[in-house]
Amino acid sequence: MVECSCNTSNEELAKQLDKIIDPYRDKPSGLIQVLTKAQNLVGYLPKWVQVQVAEGLGVSLQDVYGVITFYAFFSLIPRGRHKISVCAGTACYVKGTKMVTKTLRDLLDLRPGQTTPDSRFTLEIVRCIGACGLAPAMIIDGKDVHGRLEPELIPELLEQYE
Ligand code: FES
Repeated sequence: MVECSCNTSNEELAKQLDKIIDPYRDKPSGLIQVLTKAQNLVGYLPKWVQVQVAEGLGVSLQDVYGVITFYAFFSLIPRGRHKISVCAGTACYVKGTKMVTKTLRDLLDLRPGQTTPDSRFTLEIVRCIGACGLAPAMIIDGKDVHGRLEPELIPELLEQYE
């Protein structure tokens, strides 16, 4: 019989998560700190992590979910190595947010909220990133702003990110 290594690694992650939870056990005020550390450990916050954190801190699963969905830096989906944030603020929307997202869909088969199967990219849509003069724009990994995007420029731009 073949054993599933994914279960084994989840068990190991669960043990490590318990150690993260221990100092905050039955202390609901530690929720954000624990979720931050849990996400650093697992890469995102799947249901089993939410349940373990809720039980450990003595809060409801609903409270945990509420915090995760309130803060943009928490993720319910596995994240890629690079996060593409396409701006959908007014200036970018007028100048081509749809073109950018369509190009990314055509190139990577990637839609907002998804991660590529090779875990290379995660795509999200965000509000103004403060580069309206460069519209349409996107930011990669929260630091690299790419503006005046055109469909033919995007493939070369993405090659920088492995
Ligand atoms: S609207 Fe896109 S950068 Fe401001």
